[in-house]
Formats: sequence, structure tokens, C-alpha cells
Amino acid sequence: MSEWWRQAVVYQVYVRSFADSDGDGVGDLPGITSRLPYLRDLGVDAVWITPFYRSPQHDHGYDVADYVDVDPLFGTLADADALVARAHELGLRVIVDLVPNHTSSDHAWFRAALAAEPGSPERARYLFRTGRGADASEPPNNWRSVFGGPAWTRVGDTDQWYLHLFDSTQPDLDWRNPEVPAMFADVLRFWLDREVDGFRVDVAHGLLKEEDLRDQTGQEVSSDTFDVGGLAEDAPMWDQPEVHDVYRQWHAILAEYDGDRMAVAEAWTRTVESNAAYVRPDELHQAFNFDWVMAPWSATAYADVIERTLPALAAVGGTPTWVLSNHDVQRHATRYGGGAVGRARARAATLLSLTLPGSAYLYQGEELGLEDVDVTPEHRQDPSWFRTGEPGRDGCRVPIPWAGDRAPYGFGPGAAQPWIPQPEGWAALSVEAQQSDDGSTLAFYRRALALRREWLGGAGDEVSVSVHDDVLTVRRGDVTLAVNCGSVAAALPAGEPLLATGPADGGLPPDTAIWVRTG
Ligand code: NOJ
Repeated sequence: MSEWWRQAVVYQVYVRSFADSDGDGVGDLPGITSRLPYLRDLGVDAVWITPFYRSPQHDHGYDVADYVDVDPLFGTLADADALVARAHELGLRVIVDLVPNHTSSDHAWFRAALAAEPGSPERARYLFRTGRGADASEPPNNWRSVFGGPAWTRVGDTDQWYLHLFDSTQPDLDWRNPEVPAMFADVLRFWLDREVDGFRVDVAHGLLKEEDLRDQTGQEVSSDTFDVGGLAEDAPMWDQPEVHDVYRQWHAILAEYDGDRMAVAEAWTRTVESNAAYVRPDELHQAFNFDWVMAPWSATAYADVIERTLPALAAVGGTPTWVLSNHDVQRHATRYGGGAVGRARARAATLLSLTLPGSAYLYQGEELGLEDVDVTPEHRQDPSWFRTGEPGRDGCRVPIPWAGDRAPYGFGPGAAQPWIPQPEGWAALSVEAQQSDDGSTLAFYRRALALRREWLGGAGDEVSVSVHDDVLTVRRGDVTLAVNCGSVAAALPAGEPLLATGPADGGLPPDTAIWVRTG
């Protein structure tokens, strides 16, 4: 099948941290547009941009106050149009983020709901309920917010509470109210009319809750830590069957437009099969493969995820996605141990991802070998930090070093530190420093993406996977990948070497992967 997204490499831009055009220390749309040639040269097919809509930024844009306008912090609607047009000129597709599970508490609907009476049509767009206990001072049920603490906030001293699976500034919408799907159908059309190529659907597994909002059973109920949500055994708030009706409606809307418009689901579900249900032929087009993110550095763990993922997706005619990093998890170089070892493993795991059928999602800065930064408490901004006292996700969101030898490393004009300070010692990791170095991580990514296009572009979906002594081998088309997750050197696979992630003369050292041409 020829749809572009089936084997695309998609680059995630975290808008606040990619490029700042006006020197306010926060990335913006004109900044992204100015750097699109860099992404074209890197060799990606598409760019996914995190939310840039009007928002008070309590969760950095995942709290939307107006779905059809750009926040002045990031630019204007004209800037968004210019970005899409320039991307298309360069042959890049644009995926924008859609946040349908909740609005911001600053959204006109929520303001109207608070101003209206209990039982009013304004309140019926959200999930307001009466509290428990004699004076209604207990939340309506025992659900916990993904960001820690109760998932309910009381409205003043009334007996009413509202549900928020995330921060209290992110009230959940009631998707059983027809006004809600109608509003989002308009939002989809608004951005499709502006020529975006697709949507990344935030919290795609959360829109519908079990109707009676019953208590959750199980240990997770007592958790006060950040939790991605969706993995608990009993989860009346996640992955309900009715959510799929929403995606059938969206599929039909996307299909009204030309150019293979698509949507990719952020759906944390318990099994690969329940995840694949989001990409049935009349639903969304892709879903992030979070089992891949969660797999440890291990040949058998990788083989296990591959062998579970491929048949589950094939059964619904879908194509898999391979994700190692994003703005919600530790960067994979850090997860795999950090330092030289972590970075070597990260490159190797990336080459493995790029071997597999389907598409790969890259997160900005991984092509520079960036690791998480230990952000000091006074600079932390993640709402989960304020709700749990745990460090949260700021460490993977530090602005990109483009050039120069001190902060802001060309991230924006001027000499001030950006919204999260960059560490000392990032000069050697900047784009400028790496692009003239043949052995850099950036040079590796560029070569890998070019070779993937050349050798795997038409290779089909068949793979054979095997593990021997901590070495995982994947054969696809004319290419064989071997990755050594063990602690002793292994034999190189037979064939003409195409690309290795580190020195591999005469053997495959630990923490190294290689592509050889076998066809
Ligand atoms: C998932 C997003 O990726 C994350 O950054 C956000 O905090 C939550 N959804 C809530 O919208």
C-alpha cells in the first residue's frame, strides 16, 4: 500500500524547545520554519509538532483554551500557515497535535460551566458530579490523576466536583454529550482546511469513561506518583469500547480530504491487541508502540516486542510504529545507562528501530545524542512535579543546542538562558559541532535515514528475527541487522557492511549494531 505514513520517519518537535525566533527564551513557529531545511537534510519524512494553540501553558500546551488559534507565545495563524507551506515546499509532511480528552480550565466552555448551575447544559460538556459523604466533601470516586493526587477538584464549597485525569487545570470533557464530538469535528476540519497532513491524538484511549464512573479497584488507586495511565488491570477510565466510535467518525472526516491525511494515537493500553484496535481499517491510521519505549536494553526483550507487535498489527491491516523517546519519557540514551554506554546503546537501538517495517518516530535532540538533564528544582515546570514532588519530565525537554559554545547555544537570539536552562558542556553536542564531524551521532542519523530509504524503502514487511547469546538479528529484504546487547564481542553477520553504530572491525562489540547487505 502506498500511503506515505506507512513507512515514514516522523520527527517530533517539542515546540517550546526547538528554536526561538524572537529571543523570549521559548521556541516558536517561525523558529521551527527557519529550521525545516535542517530536518529535510536530516532525511525525515514528516514533522509532528506538539500543541501550539492558545493555552495558559500549565501543561505546556496540552491544556488548550482555543483549538483554532495559535498562542501568541508561539506566533500567529499566519505563522502556522507559513510553516505548513514551507514544509510542503521542502517535501515534508506536517502532523499537528490534537488534545480531545480535556480542555484547559481557561477554555470558554469551562468558564461557562463554572458560571452556570449544576445540571445545566454548560456543565454537561464536562464531568461534574456530586461529592460523597454527608457534606459532599469527598470526591465522587477514588480515581487518581495521572499527575498524582485525586482526579477530582471541588467547585468552591459547593457539593459539585469535576473530573480531571491530568492536572486540575485540564478538566475532562464528556464525550457522551453530542456537542463534544461536534466541536472536535469542526476542529479537525479547521486544520485539515489549512493543509495539515495529520494529527497526533493525545490520550486517545481516555475520551470515554465507564458511564457510571464507578470506583477503580486495585493497587494503582493508592499511587501518588506519575503514571502513564491505561496499564492497570481495572481501569474504568481507559480504553473503553465506545472510544472506537469516535475514531470511526474521524476516519470518515479525514477521508473526505485528498492527500492521505492520517492520525496517530497516543494510546497506553494493556496489550498489543488492544492497541492495534485503534488502527482497524476504519479507525485511526497508527498508534504509538509504547512497549518499544518500555523494553529494556535486551535482545530477548526486543525480539519479544517485535514478535508480539507484528502479528497484532497485521491482523488489522495496520503498520507498526517504533518509538524510543518522546517528551514524556526519559531520553533513550539516559534510559540505557547514560554516558558513553547509554549513547552507544541508543544509536544501536535506533538502527534496530529503523530496520523494522512500519514507521519510526524520532524525538528532537536524539539525533544529537542528547541525554536527560538534571533540572534543578527551581527550574522544574512539569505539573506532575508540583503534584507529586517527583522530578517529572522536564529533563527531556531542555532546548536544543544549535551552535556556539555557551547557552543558549543558538537556540534563540541573545545571550539569556532559555525557559529551562541548558547545561554547560553542550557545545560539542550542538548541530554546528556535529555536522562537520563524520563520527558524530548526527552524521550517523543522516546516513542511517538515507540508507533506510535506499535499502529498505521497498523491502516489504516480512522480517525474520532470531536471538543467540544476547545478539539480536533481524533480516528484512536485502538487509540484515545485528545488535549486540551482551557483554562480549560477537561475530559479524555475513555480508557487505552498510553502516555500523560504532567501531566494528572484525567483530561486533557490545552495545553496537550493524547493517550488512545480504541480498
Ligand atoms: C500526553 C502528552 O504527551 C503529555 O505531555 C500530556 O501531559 C498529557 N497527555 C496530558 O495531555
